[in-house]
Amino acid sequence: MKKLLALALLAAAALASPSRTAPAQQPLDDAALRAYLDRMHGRPGMMNVPRVDGEFLHDFILEHNYQRVLEIGASNGYSALWMGMALRRAGGQLITLEIDARRAALARQNFQKTGLDAVIELREGDALKIIPDLDGPFDLVFIDAWKEDYIRYLEMVLPKVRPGGAIVAHNVLSHAREMQDFLEAVQNHPELETRIDRRSSAGLSITLKRPR
Ligand SMILES: C[S@@+](CC[C@H](N)C(=O)[O-])C[C@H]1O[C@@H](n2cnc3c(N)ncnc32)[C@H](O)[C@@H]1O
Repeated sequence: MKKLLALALLAAAALASPSRTAPAQQPLDDAALRAYLDRMHGRPGMMNVPRVDGEFLHDFILEHNYQRVLEIGASNGYSALWMGMALRRAGGQLITLEIDARRAALARQNFQKTGLDAVIELREGDALKIIPDLDGPFDLVFIDAWKEDYIRYLEMVLPKVRPGGAIVAHNVLSHAREMQDFLEAVQNHPELETRIDRRSSAGLSITLKRPR
């Protein structure tokens, strides 16, 4: 009886240990990943980018063969998965930042379930505190956090973006009034060249840092 009890306790301990229970995830192929993205898109409170903007980020990374990408504002990981799909092919890596514990937990789950956790690193916490400690250079920074903070993110990431690299920001049409200072800066800065992409009503600014 004692032996049986000991065996049961051992089995329970093994089940509680993530390293023993979490099987290695088979990465989803691109078709399965796109279906996964469609299922996860638009859940209440997640504020995901529209699908066309996710597709844009994916194509933009492949077009320029970007390798080191930073995202500010992961939510549950929707736009990160679009970028991760491209970076898996390009052989690159994404760091994504999220301050909200619940959304960060969902993002982590989504990265694990799709097998893209090999490409995407989630850092949970305040981007305004994390970014100063990140080593550049980055090829691309995607900004999609609270809109009033965009100008501070621009100031923080600009020295860490390599010449020839890009900064893309979301909601520049839908939330223009909340980020007037950011829009003026990216359009007037001598080192930067910016166009506004209107494929979604949210709007994307696409800023290239001029090569030296
Ligand atoms: C619009 S949502 C991001 C949507 C996500 N890019 C997607 O398409 O699924 C903005 C996210 O930024 C996060 N956020 C806001 N301020 C932040 C900060 N200072 N540091 C890290 N994350 C922040 C919010 O918690 C929220 O989840």
